[in-house]
Amino acid sequence: MRDSDDSSVRSEDRGLLSRLRWLNHTPLHPQWFVRGVHRNRLRHLGRLSGDVLDVGCPDRALAAHLPDGCRYVGLDYYVTVTEFYATRPDVFGDACELPVRDECMDGVMLFEVLEHVPDPQAVLAETERVLRPGGVLLLSVPFMYPIHNAPFDFHRFTRHGLQRALKINGFDTEVIQPRLRALEVGGLIMGLAIGDACLAIWRRHRWALPIVAVLALLALLALLALLVLLVLLGNLLAWTLARLLPGSDFMPRGYQVVAVKR
Ligand SMILES: C[S@@+](CC[C@H](N)C(=O)[O-])C[C@H]1O[C@@H](n2cnc3c(N)ncnc32)[C@H](O)[C@@H]1O
Repeated sequence: MRDSDDSSVRSEDRGLLSRLRWLNHTPLHPQWFVRGVHRNRLRHLGRLSGDVLDVGCPDRALAAHLPDGCRYVGLDYYVTVTEFYATRPDVFGDACELPVRDECMDGVMLFEVLEHVPDPQAVLAETERVLRPGGVLLLSVPFMYPIHNAPFDFHRFTRHGLQRALKINGFDTEVIQPRLRALEVGGLIMGLAIGDACLAIWRRHRWALPIVAVLALLALLALLALLVLLVLLGNLLAWTLARLLPGSDFMPRGYQVVAVKR
């Protein structure tokens, strides 16, 4: 996940957030719980072969992780990829109307994209159209996650809605794996809410930093340090409780899916 995935990120905050990106792998960062997303994804890439289309690919990062022999094409939507990522895919296009011939792909990846399109059913129908019979769809969607890439964030998905949509559009679901336990999701959401407050304080007061009295500056820094400490404690508490207490899959962060075209 990238900084621009943060709910409250504005273009003027992106520089600050990219300087803090290295913290992602420590519990000091509000998105610490999301660090496993990439690893989890890679586990399923071994299912792919032949021609593979990555829809919503901003930096084409997955190309390097495909099995030998795969031919990768990264597609992204001009409006969102230039606004939020400033990267270039192989092809610009809209997932709702893929500029790809019928049945010419062996695999399609749709990671964290369906929530950003007005009509997710149309995207699944398009994915089915471009896949060869027996072709593999790898997809992930959020269930409990803040609004991001606004205003291009339209949906959240339950396991049941997702299974139904896949079935209607000609897919057999092989794997539907909830991501993160409820207590971890609690920690993630609290961390993101505190991170949002830190950003708001930073935005409101950074203009005054050069002229503000030393004491006021120290008070501001102390407040920010306290909030970072709360993120750390919240993350560690949620991580520990999620391992000590039983729980069900009623509130995952999202789902990771492997489906096959019938
Ligand atoms: C949250 S990002 C996910 C990026 C990447 N797949 C990942 O999981 O890290 C959403 C991606 O969907 C793309 N996107 C948004 N609307 C789209 C559309 N209508 N067609 C194709 N891609 C779209 C965005 O540009 C962005 O690359």
